[in-house]
Amino acid sequence: MKVTGSQPYDISFLKQKFIEHFHSAPVVFRSPGRINIIGEHTDYNEGFVLPAAIDKAAYVAIGKREDEEIHLVSVAFNETYTVNLSAIRPRKSWTDYVLGVADQLLQHGYRIGGFNLVLDGDIIIGAGLSSSAAVECSVLSALNSLFGLGLSKIEIVNMAQKAEHLFAGVKCGIMDQFASVFGQAEHAVRLDCRTLEYHYVPLHLNGMKMLLLNSKVSHSLASSEYNTRRQQCEQGVAWVAAHHDGIHSLRDVSISMLQQYVLPKDEIVYKRCKYVLEENQRLLSACDDLERNDIRALGQKMFLTHEGLSTEYEVSCAELDWLVEFVRKEEDVWGARMMGGGFGGCTINLVEENAIDRLVEKASAQYLRATGLTLEAYVVQAADGSSEII
Ligand code: GLA
Repeated sequence: MKVTGSQPYDISFLKQKFIEHFHSAPVVFRSPGRINIIGEHTDYNEGFVLPAAIDKAAYVAIGKREDEEIHLVSVAFNETYTVNLSAIRPRKSWTDYVLGVADQLLQHGYRIGGFNLVLDGDIIIGAGLSSSAAVECSVLSALNSLFGLGLSKIEIVNMAQKAEHLFAGVKCGIMDQFASVFGQAEHAVRLDCRTLEYHYVPLHLNGMKMLLLNSKVSHSLASSEYNTRRQQCEQGVAWVAAHHDGIHSLRDVSISMLQQYVLPKDEIVYKRCKYVLEENQRLLSACDDLERNDIRALGQKMFLTHEGLSTEYEVSCAELDWLVEFVRKEEDVWGARMMGGGFGGCTINLVEENAIDRLVEKASAQYLRATGLTLEAYVVQAADGSSEII
């Protein structure tokens, strides 16, 4: 079985596609997908996250039009779509991630004209690597430059997140879009989702590699479960806030408050909230581990995160649990957990470099036997955030 590494994306192919469709030369922008080392389902609870942008990205080739039309081409879906600026709306399609950000610009009063756009990339779609945020941020960065809008990075992040809420219907947190725009090669970003303060944490992993194992269970974030988790957390906050001043999010809540006010009302809401509080603590000590270069300790925390996501937050699935249990017995794997929203997608694994091929081969054979699914494996590296390709 082949482990996919980092072959660079072929920009000339994208430019050629644009020229074929629109008979002019485009400018090209990219925005990467993300991994998250630790800190899952904490972002929309004003907690901490530790994502990194990766060397897999969405790429857009773009050019202005004289009229008010938007002409879109998706290479991956082999589809085209045309709409007037005044008529854009969600349609439960890949176009939502492009049109959603155009809609945000119009809502905020920015003047944009028509444009031609070809979308492609080397980020795997639907594998929990935030291909949607990558598309939103690449399109927004491109429109920002094309129409001279002067948006700051954080404005791009906020609008991309809003587009996901309104056009894709997922009430996501800020992590994916933030990582896609602010990522830095060889670093993770430790982000406080309450204050948006962030700093870059060097990813010195003692020779360990970050290996993603794609369960091939297509995760459907838009499935109501993600939004339900968010509501459950908000419910927990509301029950505590009824007894204490100054409670705005789970960030303000302690375990003893949960025991006192939430547990008697609803055990499931209690479990969800408790997981979030514990995950925030885990992230903070994982950052210490990274600083001390104690990668084994970091790996142990990743296993604990998985346990919490699986049994308390209940966003894992049988296949993800299988993958984590499988690698737990392998001495060359120091840590593993499901990553992202859940219900499918990838696990992230810290693996010794020279063990990767052997591990993937063994896991693939047994995974196929256990689930009937064909595993995919990618080694990823931390990369820079959104940029224009000159
Ligand atoms: C998805 C969302 C993020 C975050 C993660 C879970 O990726 O888009 O905002 O909530 O799930 O940590």
